[in-house]
Amino acid sequence: MTTQDLDTEEVADIYDELLATYRVEWAYRGHRSLHLAYYDDDHDDPAEASMNTMRVLSEAADVDGTDRVLNIGCGAGEDSIWNARAHDATVIGVNISETQLDLARENAREHGVADRTEFRYDDFQTLETVADGSVDLVWGLEALAHSPDKPQALAAARRVLDDGGRVAFTDLFVRAGATPSTADREQIGTIEEGLGLRLGAIDGFEAALADAGFENVEVRDLTDGIRPGLEDRKQFASVAHPVGRLLGAVGIASEAQLDGLEASARVHDLVEDGVLGYYLITADRSTSDGDGGDSVDDPAS
Ligand SMILES: C[S@@+](CC[C@H](N)C(=O)[O-])C[C@H]1O[C@@H](n2cnc3c(N)ncnc32)[C@H](O)[C@@H]1O
Repeated sequence: MTTQDLDTEEVADIYDELLATYRVEWAYRGHRSLHLAYYDDDHDDPAEASMNTMRVLSEAADVDGTDRVLNIGCGAGEDSIWNARAHDATVIGVNISETQLDLARENAREHGVADRTEFRYDDFQTLETVADGSVDLVWGLEALAHSPDKPQALAAARRVLDDGGRVAFTDLFVRAGATPSTADREQIGTIEEGLGLRLGAIDGFEAALADAGFENVEVRDLTDGIRPGLEDRKQFASVAHPVGRLLGAVGIASEAQLDGLEASARVHDLVEDGVLGYYLITADRSTSDGDGGDSVDDPAS
């Protein structure tokens, strides 16, 4: 399988396979996050650090109770529920996995926010179920790394944003100025295949935001905060991978689960080698179309 032929069904299948591993972590940590934990001086426990990732992004996005939030790539609902509970926001979560959508709905009911959250099947590349100008914030916590065409995903995000709307994302990107070696490229391929990702460069993404009609783009490098969690994952993979191979040989662990473990270890290595970084990006919807287009508010345009 090459990166290009990885479609949304394959991404959904990868997640469905990895859910068995995630469920163990969720039971242990008491949450249903599918994102990296962000450690700082006040959050040094894995479960707290995982909540902290959502806190940091929601603070940067300035989420409040008046916001209609669209969560692209909503996982099992954890970050939608966070914004509904912590900020009273109204949230639509979209995903391309019915299994995850069911988990998200159940999660929202358990947390008492089913009235402020809705979870629907939609591909963030097109957002066909979301009306033009109908949301105030497009939020993506580790979703866009799955996008095979980031300019298209950003155009869809811009279309659904109301005047004064904004985007807030965190994700893994290739660092600006990094020139991945052939060996690094192979590792990137292992990560993309194992986790269903398409890793882009942060400087290219920044430019794509401007082209898609966003302004006031701010990029924060959060890489240091995710290092402890990546170290844990690598250690887990170094134990689980050989055990998994044995279990795989007798049909207990799947190929996808083994690939996922391998990919997690490779993310750690490429972050340590300075090839990949973890970034928080915010931007405002501009009144002009992007690509130097005319103002959308200009009746003559
Ligand atoms: C790393 S998980 C993050 C989930 C969630 N934001 C969280 O923090 O727990 C990425 C999510 O993006 C979803 N996803 C991937 N490609 C997608 C697409 N094209 N459209 C919608 N969701 C997608 C995956 O199914 C998964 O739920």
